[in-house]
Amino acid sequence: MVTPAQHHEVVERLRAHPGEGSELRAFAMSLLDELDGYDWSGIYRLEGPTLVLDQYVGAPTDHTSIPIGVGVCGTAVAEDRNVTIEDVREVDNYLACSLDTRSEIVVLIRNGAVVLGQIDVDGHSVAAFDRSDEKMLEEMAQILADRW
Ligand code: SME
Repeated sequence: MVTPAQHHEVVERLRAHPGEGSELRAFAMSLLDELDGYDWSGIYRLEGPTLVLDQYVGAPTDHTSIPIGVGVCGTAVAEDRNVTIEDVREVDNYLACSLDTRSEIVVLIRNGAVVLGQIDVDGHSVAAFDRSDEKMLEEMAQILADRW
């Protein structure tokens, strides 16, 4: 859950950054790391049928490569939609990054109809993310896609 002020600040700081590519993606993840409830934030790039972990902040994860259709991340691509999970314990098709994770949000990074990748955020509390987070992450995804 982010306030309108947080949304505005994060998006404008990202927009103002002069970088592109992996440098910009790393900066985006550092911005998310400052937000309460954002306990792990990462970007996966879609390479063929596989999501490949790109820039991230938080604990290292075993899930550096995820096939389309597998886990919350792969399901988002397979179904071509953003996914918000209130409680990961209720999801069968879930890949645990950390045993502390309770909620997760995945927002696709698109260039038109083409999916370039996704932003994936994990939180340690139930229902940490809602439409306010999705809207902020969608704007960030567009900025990242424009300077992919
Ligand atoms: N939980 C994700 C895997 C990525 S880790 O959370 C970093 C999933 O189920 O796809």
